[in-house]
Amino acid sequence: MARIFSGVQPTGNLHLGNYLGAIRNWVKLQKDYPCLFCIVDMHAVTVSQAPAALRHNTRCVAASLLAAGVESERNILFSQSAVPGHAQLAWVLNCVARFGWLSRMTQFKEKAAGQDRENASVGLYAYPTLMAADILLYRATHVPVGADQKQHLELTRDIAQRFNNIFGKNFFPIPEPIIVHPATRIMSLRDASKKMSKSDPSDYARINLTDDADTIALKVRKAKTDPAPLPDTLTALQKRPEAANLLGLYATLADLSPEEALTHHAGRRFADFKKDLTELTVSVLAPMTAEVKRLLAAPDHLDSILRHGAQRADTLAGPILAAVYDLIGFLRV
Ligand code: TYM
Repeated sequence: MARIFSGVQPTGNLHLGNYLGAIRNWVKLQKDYPCLFCIVDMHAVTVSQAPAALRHNTRCVAASLLAAGVESERNILFSQSAVPGHAQLAWVLNCVARFGWLSRMTQFKEKAAGQDRENASVGLYAYPTLMAADILLYRATHVPVGADQKQHLELTRDIAQRFNNIFGKNFFPIPEPIIVHPATRIMSLRDASKKMSKSDPSDYARINLTDDADTIALKVRKAKTDPAPLPDTLTALQKRPEAANLLGLYATLADLSPEEALTHHAGRRFADFKKDLTELTVSVLAPMTAEVKRLLAAPDHLDSILRHGAQRADTLAGPILAAVYDLIGFLRV
């Protein structure tokens, strides 16, 4: 049976990269598959978080997911730390995954490169095994993510395969990534060689799902471009990463292919194109922003949605974790 699992970190505001690379796809998939959507607060604490901000961001992300169209009755929406099985299975998988596999994870290398490497948390290093546990705890078969998570997904597949080889064939399904095109990687508005990210120190690098119309207009206006008008072929566009990123953003928001978007905008100057991009972005985000505000005004209601989701997730996880414990030989008394 197909089952979908995906997660998002509550480390700050969700941005257009999260929405177009992942969440919009979750909303489509929920119509056809049973889905678990998880706010991964245990991943968030692999780098330091202020406790009050973490609690607030967890509610904000829950509100943003609901505002984006995630249905909490149809799916299971919950926070990771509320289901102990994630940490329990992660420990088992830490013992299945090999040191060398984790050493090759580029996200760790990138994140640890920005700080004193010796001082990076052990949690940051082991992050991908917790991610594997998130997915395998529910025996999920499909994982919709942005392209930046592809390597972590491959590692999850390796871990599942190794567990199956050691303890019992086909215990875990080997999960398939679902990566949408073309917006699998939305880049920073300031530097098109970096992905749009919650952790970018400049807020001008991203468009948050909670930005108002004026802020969006300002950020798009300030987005880095080059002086030439938009070209008329994709080959020419690909040589201009900033232009390609903005056009890609437009295409994805409008549900067009990059070719179609280029046909509409070839030859236009950025000043004009940016006005259209702003208008389109605002038209997509404004209804969500209003809904997020409404939901955040009733935190008890949000908490009860998350509590109910955690109970349902725990019910699914319990028998799978028990079977893992039996397979590896923990005496259960
Ligand atoms: P996170 O919180 O960084 O991002 C959540 C989702 O948004 C996608 N995404 C992007 N897509 C396109 N362009 C971007 N600039 C961009 N930035 C983020 C991510 O690919 C992701 O799908 N490790 C994960 C969270 C996680 C998870 C899991 C995901 C924990 N456990 C299990 C799937 C399954 C992360 O940090 O996502």
